[in-house]
Amino acid sequence: MNNTVICPGSFDPVTLGHVDIIKRASKMFDKVIVAVLVNMSKTPSFSIDERIAFLEKALEGVDNIEIVGFSGLLADYAKERNAKAVVKGLRAMSDFEYEFQMALTNKKLNPELDTVFLTSDSQYMYLSSSMVKQIASLGGDISYFVPQSIHEQVYERLKTGARKETVK
Ligand code: PNS
Repeated sequence: MNNTVICPGSFDPVTLGHVDIIKRASKMFDKVIVAVLVNMSKTPSFSIDERIAFLEKALEGVDNIEIVGFSGLLADYAKERNAKAVVKGLRAMSDFEYEFQMALTNKKLNPELDTVFLTSDSQYMYLSSSMVKQIASLGGDISYFVPQSIHEQVYERLKTGARKETVK
């Protein structure tokens, strides 16, 4: 039986919430493809290569995963890799409509492709990459939100790339 699934996302950058979902998926399925994809409604802060490098560091030691970048449709990539399902984390009700829309669209494009939702751990319910970016670019501590192995690198990169407006 094919037990390969895909965990897709922008991962801009990967957070502890993402790591938790990917690790839990890796215990449930034979293989997890972690796919860094393009979300056309977001402007990324990190290149796909940087995001992949962060994921590789954050997920060191997790054997049954493969980390890839892909710039096309998730539904096509899943078919190409013969993946059985998409796995996504659901934080609060606010995620539901957006995730449901994506799941149904992907199913329409690739009728073989189901989406499985894992409920976010309660400690990561509020966590998002955009929150991490906002905190770091304003000089705040992101060590509670991103894996320890990358938090320094993410922080430095976001801090130096910050565009601080002067508020009178
Ligand atoms: O972490 P995100 O930004 O919520 O992830 C969204 C993502 C990247 C999974 C989604 O935008 C996506 O699948 N992009 C690839 C292009 C695609 O297939 N778009 C149609 C999906 S409905």
